Amino acid sequence: MSETDTHVIHALDADDPLSHYRDKFFHGDSDLIYLDGNSLGRLPRATMNYMRNIVTNQWGDSLIRGWRSGWMDLQEKLGNKIAKIIGANEGEVIVADSTTVNLYRLALAAVMHQAKDHRTRIVTDNLNFPSDVYVFQGISNIIKGSRVEIIPSTDNLHGPVTEISRALDDHTALLSLSHTVFKSGYTYDMTELTAQAHAAGALVLWDLSHSAGALPVDLRKSRADLAVGCCYKYLNGGPGAPAFLYVRRELQEQLLNPLTGWFSQENMFEMELDYKPTSGIRRFTSGTPPVLAVSAIEPSLDIFLEVGMEAIWKKSLGLTDLFIHLFDQHLAPLNFRLNSPRNPKYRGSHISLGHDEAWRINQALISEMNVLPDFRPPDNIRLGFAPLYTSYVDVYTAVMRLRQVVTEKRYENYSQEKTDVT
Ligand SMILES: Cc1ncc(COP(=O)(O)O)c(C=O)c1O
Repeated sequence: MSETDTHVIHALDADDPLSHYRDKFFHGDSDLIYLDGNSLGRLPRATMNYMRNIVTNQWGDSLIRGWRSGWMDLQEKLGNKIAKIIGANEGEVIVADSTTVNLYRLALAAVMHQAKDHRTRIVTDNLNFPSDVYVFQGISNIIKGSRVEIIPSTDNLHGPVTEISRALDDHTALLSLSHTVFKSGYTYDMTELTAQAHAAGALVLWDLSHSAGALPVDLRKSRADLAVGCCYKYLNGGPGAPAFLYVRRELQEQLLNPLTGWFSQENMFEMELDYKPTSGIRRFTSGTPPVLAVSAIEPSLDIFLEVGMEAIWKKSLGLTDLFIHLFDQHLAPLNFRLNSPRNPKYRGSHISLGHDEAWRINQALISEMNVLPDFRPPDNIRLGFAPLYTSYVDVYTAVMRLRQVVTEKRYENYSQEKTDVT
């Protein structure tokens, strides 16, 4: 890349209307190129003070009175903030438990509801996060006659849209997909597939883990029935942050939460022995929320509400477009493969790079080049471009360091053996 080109990259950052948001996040090591915000988002500076206050003033001073002065409504309050980020209505989203638990709860609720009409089949694809498929397999083990149909993608990169719509029939209870898939970053057209599932009489459950906070999602417009998603990736809620769930308002009274517990009981403090589900989105919770962990999500959500998803998406496209441009110039000649869609319509905010030596290149990048992506088998280096704090210079520097690892054969110093956490 010429000097003029690097000039152009710096100009992209200078013209970026979101560039000042980078400083709203903690950067311990200013040389680190962090490209794993799609797995664990950076720490917002505001969260540091906020949590100090919550711990001291709420836990420390309020003690048990905290439940009366805000903790009881915290899950709904944050759910309503997330609703604005994913195009849902007030009262349709709540923060609770983990993505896996929420997925189990909503998928089982949907299948139980549909089983009345002899619909028990769950349709998904082979690009879905494996844990989601494990959840569906667990459900099919306990629902009589249920089975999971996993539709394969022909190229392991793009969603098998035609094959999925062909698979939807009058035995299908539920279509459940990752909106943006974890490996290639392919993003489904939510409106199109939801309409097709509805036409076949199926309910739809979207996993928004790799979409929420990365690109605009419009659950309202797409008429999506159910959704779950993660708060520790783009939403920067902290390691293991509680997740969110969405249930379209009209379905809330029709579905039964299979994980019943006192937080979803009507008048819970009356301590009646007979379970009577409360109304609204709270009906889909179970037990006491981890108040500190839920609280930690809020400062980041406020940043998203201030910036707006359109601006974030525009920046995301700018970053991934630049990466693909630099890939063609510098990485394709070094036998890297682009394992993500070129078409921006189907692109999330992360990109997977294939290479026969991907595992060792990734090790070298982390160990000696101070670039932090992650690795997904069999041969993907996955680079996440979190729009709020990733700069155009980060993208450029990452490509240059990737190139250096290969041209200088630095990866040859690393073992082929895989570690436990990738
Ligand atoms: C798309 C997707 N779904 C579900 C999960 C599981 O989330 P959790 O382990 O927080 O329940 C993950 C985790 O990374 C994910 O990426």
